[in-house]
Amino acid sequence: MRPETAPANAPTVEDAIAVLKANDLGTYTVPTHGLYPFQWNWDSCLTALGQAHFDEARAWTEIETLFTHQWEDGMVPHIVFHKHDDGYFPGPDVWQTNRPVPTSGITQPPVAGFAVRRLFERASDKALAEQRARALLPKIAAWHDWFFRARDPEGTGLVAILHPWESGRDNSIDWDAALDRVPIDGVIPFRRRDTEHANPDHRPTQAQYERYIGLVQHFRGLGWDSARLHDASPFKVVDPGFNAILLRSCADLAALAEALGETKLATDARARAEAGIAALEMLWSEPSGQYLCLDRVTRELVESLSVGGLLAAFAPIPPHRAARLATRIEEVAATAQYLVPSHDPTDPRYDGRRYWRGPAWLIVNYMVADGLRAAGQPAIAERIEADSLALIAAGFAEYYDPITGEPCGGGKFTWTAAIAVEILTMSEKRS
Ligand code: DGY
Repeated sequence: MRPETAPANAPTVEDAIAVLKANDLGTYTVPTHGLYPFQWNWDSCLTALGQAHFDEARAWTEIETLFTHQWEDGMVPHIVFHKHDDGYFPGPDVWQTNRPVPTSGITQPPVAGFAVRRLFERASDKALAEQRARALLPKIAAWHDWFFRARDPEGTGLVAILHPWESGRDNSIDWDAALDRVPIDGVIPFRRRDTEHANPDHRPTQAQYERYIGLVQHFRGLGWDSARLHDASPFKVVDPGFNAILLRSCADLAALAEALGETKLATDARARAEAGIAALEMLWSEPSGQYLCLDRVTRELVESLSVGGLLAAFAPIPPHRAARLATRIEEVAATAQYLVPSHDPTDPRYDGRRYWRGPAWLIVNYMVADGLRAAGQPAIAERIEADSLALIAAGFAEYYDPITGEPCGGGKFTWTAAIAVEILTMSEKRS
């Protein structure tokens, strides 16, 4: 049974801060040493939330460093390869994006708008926050513009991801069918490094990696030209979780812009959020009681009950949808000790230790709980946060088996520690 109270040896805020400091390389933080030795996009934005509790200036720097490497077209890459490290594959030699500081050529869930508003509103140093937020505002707006231009060419209100790595939920069951269509002829032979740092049973399969690299080679062959990638990609999926993060960031950017007197930017961002929320209805599945992915190649919903469809709660969706998602999460709770599994445990394809095919992740828990609390569902939000704190009793792992609580993937993980600081500090303030 899941413990009702935190064990005596439960990690403290100080323990979590020690992890953040150990992974801090000065102007950016690695997700964990060894497995991920560079700067990752959404890791950094969520990390800043934890850093802000003990060093606000450092938190702003984390996000600013990421945006220093924004592409001219507005895209913010998913990895910045600040310095050489051959312990990771695929490195800059595979991506070949031809940047002054090498980066990957794809993006990641755009949590920056949300994170920057949260840093700004909670800041104790208001002058510092205004100056740093004002400088980031147009850069985040340019990234959002890029999304709707490059990833929603038909103007549906929702954007597509073109690579599973963009979703952040790399090997989710959501992508299986779409990924199977990615050709692998001509994929260069490669040596994976992730399985040298982490248990191979916790990581994506070799067959999935071949397709991940096949997509990278395909986009590289198109010169990383955003104007060509969407239509030419064999993998194009509209993920409700990814879109919810984007739409929440648009809504938060609008609020931030309003507070900073940037009225035009606020109006545009709000209009995007509203249009996107209306379009999310296309992804609602009444029989499933949650949102589903849409395959933009086949134009069909993907029958896969993943946490992507629950993460939609992070966006300001209609209250009746949030209420149904809360009920759906309660249904899932009947089959898992710890919320929120990244995939429904009753699905035969579920795998409780393999990355995004079942494990629970604290960052996702945090976003789902945040959205549900804002939508008037505090009970389930509290249950999710309590489960998150119960999980970190086993250490700040990358992710956890939602039935046994076993820590999986990388250890001493930055964003897990950052979210622990957030949940521990904010629940203290609320009580
Ligand atoms: C990895 O290398 O596992 C990452 O998730 C890709 O960004």
